[in-house]
This record gives sequence, structure tokens and C-alpha cells, in this order.
Amino acid sequence: MDYLAFVLVLPFVLASIHVLASGLRGCKSCSPRLPPGPKPFPIIGNILELVGNQPHLALSKLSKTYGPLMTLKLGSITSIVISSPDLAKEALQKHDQVFSSRTIPDSNRALNHHKFSMGWLPTSARWRSLRKVSVTQIFAPQRLDSTQSIRRKKVQELLDHVKENCNSGQAVDIGRAAFTTILNTISDTFFSTESAQYCSNASQELRDLIVGITEEAGRPNIADYFPALRFVDPQGARRRMTIYNRNFFRILDGIINERLQLRASSKGSKASSDVLDSLLDLTEEDNSELSCDDIKHLLLDLYVAAIDTTSSTVEWAMAELLHNPEKMAKARKELEEVFGKDGVVQESDISKSPYLQAVVKETFRLHPPAPFLVPHKAEIDVEMCGFTVPNNAQILVNVWAMGRDSSIWPNPDLFLPESFKRDPVGLGGEGKRVSSAGSIATGSSSLNSEIPAELPDLSSPRRVLGAGGAVWVRRALEGLRRGPTRRREH
Ligand code: HEM
Repeated sequence: MDYLAFVLVLPFVLASIHVLASGLRGCKSCSPRLPPGPKPFPIIGNILELVGNQPHLALSKLSKTYGPLMTLKLGSITSIVISSPDLAKEALQKHDQVFSSRTIPDSNRALNHHKFSMGWLPTSARWRSLRKVSVTQIFAPQRLDSTQSIRRKKVQELLDHVKENCNSGQAVDIGRAAFTTILNTISDTFFSTESAQYCSNASQELRDLIVGITEEAGRPNIADYFPALRFVDPQGARRRMTIYNRNFFRILDGIINERLQLRASSKGSKASSDVLDSLLDLTEEDNSELSCDDIKHLLLDLYVAAIDTTSSTVEWAMAELLHNPEKMAKARKELEEVFGKDGVVQESDISKSPYLQAVVKETFRLHPPAPFLVPHKAEIDVEMCGFTVPNNAQILVNVWAMGRDSSIWPNPDLFLPESFKRDPVGLGGEGKRVSSAGSIATGSSSLNSEIPAELPDLSSPRRVLGAGGAVWVRRALEGLRRGPTRRREH
């Protein structure tokens, strides 16, 4: 039904957009001087440049021709692509104020999430108040200190799971295991409960919902390039996201209602003091700006922002180490020297492991979880390098291209933690919109002491790692497990 409507309406809408756009474009001399870019086709613009599953790579290649400040017309959306650290700094620091809005993917309008969400609201008073809530209630040093034991416990559970699999000669899907660890860490920190098991047969509704939401959010949607098509939702993205969000909120409603009853029955004496309790305390203050709806949307943001970014980083770090046995040996040696052979890695001791830190930074450089950050939007015309970044343009900061720039990194495609001299460019963003998270996942550091010391020959690691993302890594890991393994002696 959706598809039929799409097919019937599309030609009419595209023709109208074209006529209107040509009429409104007016005289050429009045148009702003946009940064250079490939010539756009009528109506679709440069969308074809992005066909394929690696838009960051495609735009990186284009920037070699058109320069680090480039214009692309994606359907009816003017997009400015920034591919150099200096220009990224200029955009995210100097012009932070006017570039800190967002272009909102249509699927994020499901159940009006964009009107409540810290990640999608413009930097208004409402956004500031949500940001303040997350800084004071979730990422405050006292909270991070008091929840450290939860993270330690969750990392230990991950290690036990890996060890169990090693003992029985089973393949471990590291990305999936890290995903479970982070999901449980967040659920335990927020509501003192668990949400998923490592065993894949167990029912894990929350986990499946987060996977669904993350995949839906990452899928290209034609309605984002032609906002006039939003009302038909041609690919059904908003419809699917509505179902996911509704189910997610149903689970949260259950947890929140149960907690409210517990609080009512404990008559003032606090039953627990996790993040949910602190947020509910805030909603009960006089003139509170925070409602239960705000809490649900905030938690949706945090689950989605935290889990895939962190687990994919753990997965890539492990994959790079597995493909670079000498780097793995060096990282293990450092861990053994700092923490002892069976020692537990403590968050407070991470500074004693510079090589491990370099491994994580090098992983971020080669595999940034958000290769374009989260797209920003210009709120007024802004001059950059003698060009105009026009009002309403979408700003894509291609951190992937910067991490692979051979004028900055001598061997940009090699995994070389030891030659790490400078931080990769603002991988969690810069300025107002910088990622809310501190360093929460310590999984990767402990994890590499559980990997067998003897590795099979993976003769062309670059080919395995070069293209297809996590699925290749999973295959590489499975291949690894099928090969000869020798468990570490404990
Ligand atoms: C490997 C880990 C992570 C990476 C690489 C990462 C990266 C990012 C990036 C690139 C942005 C967009 C910045 C911009 O727009 O300029 C962002 C935003 C955000 N991140 Fe993270 N993130 C990570 C982990 C987390 C975690 C663990 C949480 C929460 C528990 C989190 C919460 C958020 C939130 C709420 C935003 C939206 C902030 C806003 O728009 O005001 N992130 N993150």
C-alpha cells in the first residue's frame, strides 16, 4: 500500500519540486558562492555519488578533487562536506553557535522523538536543560565513581563469557558480546536491572529493539533527501521506527511505574538510588522542567548513542589486534606489566597503559563509529574560505577522511598505535554538541588478555579489514576460532 502510494505520487512530487525550485532559484548572480563540488543532476542532485554502502569513502575520494570544503546537492538538501581538521575546527569551534542545530532524519520524527530528544533538539533552552540533567545526574564524577563497581562486574561477566567459549572451543562474536555488556551496564546503571544475556536463544526484547532502532537510523531514507515526500514515508522508515519506539517506551513505562509504586510504598525512604531514582526526584521538584516523557526520550537517546558506538569500537580494536599479532603481544605485555598476569584492569589505572590508549585512539582513527559525526545544520549564511555555507545547509564533518589523510598520517591505512602522535580529530564531536559520554567501556582492555596467544595465519588482513565493516570482522574472528588455539595458562 505504501509502495503503491509512493509510485503514484513520486513523479508528480518530483516534477513540482523541479518547477518550484527552478522558479525560486531566480537570478544566478544573487545566489551565494557555494564551495566547489561535482555538478548536480536535476532533481536528484549528487545522490548517485553516494550509491554503495560506504558514503564516507565516496566523499573522501570526491574531496581529493574538489577540496576540503565541498558542496553536494543530496536531493533537495544542500550539504557541505568538511574534510580537513583545520576547517572542522573552524566549523565546530569558531562557528559552533550557528552550526549546532541538526538536520533531523525523518525516522527520528517517530512519536515526536525529535521534539524531546537531546540529540535532535536545536541548542535551545530545552536542550540546555536536558544536557544539564545528563551532566549532573549521569556523567557527574560522583555518579561515575559510584557506578564503577557495576562496570567492573559487567566487564568480568564479559571475560567469563569469553573464557567459557575459549574452554569449549566455541567462536565468540566479540561485537555481539560487547553489545550485551554495554546494554547491561547501562540498564544496571539506570534502573538496577539487566536487559540481555550472552546466550543468543534467551528472550531479549530490549536488545532486539535497540538493534532495530540503530539499524533503522543508519539506513538511507529517500524522505531525508526530499522532505516533500515525508508525508508518504515512502520506505516505511518512520512507520517501523514508530513501532520500535512504542515498544521501547512500553518497556520503560513498566520499569518507571514499578519504581513509582516502590517509591510510594517505601514512604520517603529511598528504595535505591540509581539514575532513574535521581531523574524521578527531579520530576517531583516544584516547577520541574523534567517529565516522565522527557526521561523516556532521554533514555532512548542514551541507549542508542552509547551502545553501537562503543561495541563497534571494541570489535574493531580486537579485530585489528588479532590481525596484528605483534601489536597484540605488545598490548598484552603492557597489561601484564601494569596489572600482573591475572590482574583486573581498573579504570583509574588506564593512564598507566599508554600503549593500550594508543590502540584505542588508533582504532578510532581507522574506524570512527560516526564517520560524519551527527550531521549539523547552518542556521544562517556563514563565510568560510571565501565561500558561503548557506542557511539550512547540512554540515557533514568527514572524520573518516581526516583519519585516512596521507598528508597527516604517513601510512594512513596501517594500524600503527606506536606511531600515534596526535589525537584523531574530534571523534565525539567538538563544541556544544560534543558527545555526552565519558569513557565508560573498559571492555577492550581486559578483553585482549583472554584471546589465545597463538594466532592462525590471516594472510591478507588488509583485505579482510578494508571494506565491509563488522560482518567481516565477525567472519575473521570465526576463522580465527576454527584455527589452532592455545589457551593462556592461568
Ligand atoms: C565510542 C564511543 C562514542 C563515540 C565515538 C561517540 C561519538 C559521538 C558523536 C560523533 C556525536 C555527535 C557530536 C556532534 O554532533 O558533533 C555524539 C553525540 C552524542 N553522544 Fe556519543 N559517542 C560515544 C559514546 C557515547 C556514550 C557511551 C553515550 C551515553 C551514555 C553517548 C551519548 C551521546 C549523546 C547523548 C549525544 C548527543 C549530544 C547532543 O547532540 O547534544 N555517546 N557521540
